[in-house]
Amino acid sequence: MKAIRACIFDLDGVIVDTASHHFVAWRRLADELGIPFSAEDNEALKGVSRVDSLEYILNKGGLILDAGTKVRLMDRKNTHYLELAGATTPADALPGVVKLIDELKEEGIKVALGSSSKNAEMILTRLSLIDRFDVLVDGNHITLSKPDPEVFVMGAKALELAPEHCLVFEDAQSGIDAANAGGFSVIGIGRADALKGSAAVIPGFDGMTWEGIKALL
Ligand code: BG6
Ligand code: MG
Repeated sequence: MKAIRACIFDLDGVIVDTASHHFVAWRRLADELGIPFSAEDNEALKGVSRVDSLEYILNKGGLILDAGTKVRLMDRKNTHYLELAGATTPADALPGVVKLIDELKEEGIKVALGSSSKNAEMILTRLSLIDRFDVLVDGNHITLSKPDPEVFVMGAKALELAPEHCLVFEDAQSGIDAANAGGFSVIGIGRADALKGSAAVIPGFDGMTWEGIKALL
């Protein structure tokens, strides 16, 4: 195994529990459209961009809409999302994540964000974490949604590191697939039975040290 010189964190569901806000906001939009939206649908949409998520829901409901209507629906979902996520405070960072990031900085390991969300900077700012990141790649920079590796490949380029020197943390199957497709090591955050293809799955960062994480690789 090559030495890890940087960690690339997904945002939603890894640094903060905004994944649940995306779920509630998409379900609200789906309800408004009369399209059923289950927890399994939500699982499939984790890590997936706003536009691809809308296409998934419209496809499920058999709805064909013009481009202008789709933009209005995406804005509506984002308004629903911001009603919930707009109230994020530093106390909402998931247990152990800030401690780990601080430890990484002390160890000289670079810290990057690799998120599909266009709201990522706002959320990191609200968490008071934005200054701790050496590199930010989010939904405003990428053209291809996870499971395409673009977001992580851009992150590695900005870090000036080869993918094998970067470790990705992901809570979504699409993100784990993206990391593997790009040649990155990846640790899943969540339930081991739901996340396939990662070096290891941990429930979260609570109580985890950098030494402990490296031992999982
Ligand atoms: C990902 C989330 O991080 O970002 C998805 O897992 C979300 O649920 C996607 O749809 C896009 O987010 P946003 O904030 O640009 O709508
Ligand atoms: Mg996520």
